[in-house]
Amino acid sequence: MLNNMGAGIAITGCGSAAPESVLTNHHLAQMVETSDEWIVTRTGMKNRHIASHTETLSQLSALAAKKAIAMAGISVTEIDLIILATSTPDDLFGSACKVQGLIGATNAVAFDLTAACSGFIFALITAAQFIRTGVHKNVLIIGADVLSRWVDWSDRSSCVLFGDGAGAVVCQATNDGDRLLGFEMYSKGSQNDSLNLNYHGNSQPLVEDLTAQYGTYRPITMNGKEVYRFAVAKVPEAIGKVMFRLNLTAEDIDWLLLHQANQRIMDAVAKRLGIPPHKILSNIAEYGNTSAASIPLALDAAVREGKVKPGDTIATSGFGAGLTWGSAIFKWG
Ligand code: ACO
Repeated sequence: MLNNMGAGIAITGCGSAAPESVLTNHHLAQMVETSDEWIVTRTGMKNRHIASHTETLSQLSALAAKKAIAMAGISVTEIDLIILATSTPDDLFGSACKVQGLIGATNAVAFDLTAACSGFIFALITAAQFIRTGVHKNVLIIGADVLSRWVDWSDRSSCVLFGDGAGAVVCQATNDGDRLLGFEMYSKGSQNDSLNLNYHGNSQPLVEDLTAQYGTYRPITMNGKEVYRFAVAKVPEAIGKVMFRLNLTAEDIDWLLLHQANQRIMDAVAKRLGIPPHKILSNIAEYGNTSAASIPLALDAAVREGKVKPGDTIATSGFGAGLTWGSAIFKWG
């Protein structure tokens, strides 16, 4: 066990990957009764990347992870823990170990974490606990989803929204100041019905008076209006609480990095917090809603474009099925 008890966290590397195939609004207009104009105006989305039968969640995750590890400048064997935030593993037993094998992180323990679109934030906060308590030094966090496998492609109210991808970050123990400044996490199971990807089974007789269920998961169902209202109300509150505790004003926030569910949600949250639109990190036009991947995908693009620089203060929030939501304020690098 490493003796880094009381260490802070530095986020030192990021990476991302997306499938090659791009599904445009124009493609969707050939599939369901919709239009490019409706989708752009209501969501800000133009394209989304869709995994083919040869592109797995584990492979996308491994690609993103390797890039994040390279940027962090450490060897893959130095990774102690891998947390894969996903709702769409290749294997219901979890895909984190598969990713561990693919990247050769032979010294890491690996597990999946499921919290839908809040998954990446929940994983970041979980990783921080292991680092602060001195249990682990180098933690790889991956947010990845292939929701295209679970979309009802005949439901225009949801099929236009989702795309696939993976994003990763490396968190390292440091004695040079804790870069995770604060966080909040919430769940509200009483609104669980607003957004689901439920299992449906049929009874299969085993022996007399005893049956087992045999079935699979059914496509995503969502009450878009409910989720929209919830996000616009709860996300600014969750970020605002952390800002208040840290005595930060909107001017102190360099970037607003939200789960990429809808450009209108991002704009409304920014407005509520008094953060100007040019500080919103958005890649929703190119990727749509990639669930647990959306935050690290947008972060990676902004870092590689040179927008986000070491020391920048980032306010981030994930929200979605559960319902779950969470926020964190951290300094990059
Ligand atoms: N094309 C054309 N018309 C459409 C489409 C479409 N793709 N989808 C819905 N419509 C229609 C509706 O049928 C409705 O028509 P009606 O007025 O005749 O009934 C009209 O457009 C308006 O529908 P609304 O649902 O009110 O549209 P809204 O402006 O709310 O946008 C949307 C819908 C984009 C889904 C929005 O509600 C939203 O973004 N919700 C939040 C989703 C979200 O944040 N999910 C997060 C988590 S995802 C996760 O955790 C996995």
